[in-house]
Amino acid sequence: MQDRTSVRDIYEKYENDETLTMLTAYDAPIAAQVDAGGVDMILVGDSAADNHLGHEDTIPLTMEEALSNTAAVDRAVEDAMVVGDLPFLSYGASMEESVNNAGRFMKEAGADAVKLETAPHGDTTIEIIDRLTELGIPTMGHIGFTPQRMHQIGGAYIQGRGHTSSAAVDPLVETAQRLEDAGVFTIVLETVTEEVGKRVSEAVDVPTIGIGAGRHVDGQVLVITDMLGLGGKAFKLSKQYADIDSEIRSAVEAYVDEVESGEFPAEENVFDPVDGESDDD
Ligand code: KIV
Repeated sequence: MQDRTSVRDIYEKYENDETLTMLTAYDAPIAAQVDAGGVDMILVGDSAADNHLGHEDTIPLTMEEALSNTAAVDRAVEDAMVVGDLPFLSYGASMEESVNNAGRFMKEAGADAVKLETAPHGDTTIEIIDRLTELGIPTMGHIGFTPQRMHQIGGAYIQGRGHTSSAAVDPLVETAQRLEDAGVFTIVLETVTEEVGKRVSEAVDVPTIGIGAGRHVDGQVLVITDMLGLGGKAFKLSKQYADIDSEIRSAVEAYVDEVESGEFPAEENVFDPVDGESDDD
């Protein structure tokens, strides 16, 4: 898809001080609307596990599920860059497996780029990213709170607290700089204090995309279900722009009422062999 937003377009906006926008999407109908709404990038996040597939967290997402979600988004998107998100342990065990799995997002699912999480001082992932970018796979970094490590970390928490002590911030700044050296084209910065978001953004020459990282980053990303009010869970640092849960519930209640009362199907909804098929077919 040559007309989609490219790495070069992202840099152009960054150099012109234009704020970058990204949202997640996991299926074709939502991706089509997110794309039409004008975002720069659509992340087919591993947050599909908890926000789309009903899991507790991101850990159970499989490569096949992630590829299937990414391919669905790819089929629906014309303009935005589509970023595939490597699931837990689809990278890291070996260089060969990591490269092959990242490549599958582009070759089989139509992604334009991939993202993977990096722990502070994450030597293994940084080496993998170095290899991916050498091979021509546009790669987005992800530091700060990294949900794939939440069982090790002990839950979600704000990283970089106590930022007056450089001990809390320096590992994030250093990791961001090493990611830049490894060739990432953007870095997601998740759940860090605003001051840490600012310090990391100032320390690197690649765009930082914040989620719960305050105002001094180069772009913002939200999880689509949080911002749409879909699925009943709200991330405190997010903003809800719609209440789709209520819309769905009212529509279903109206349908149940109309079927039970005999109002639906009405005469115009009955198949007529002379008119042929309905508009939906
Ligand atoms: O999977 C995801 O949705 C993410 C965003 C929170 C950046 O990684």
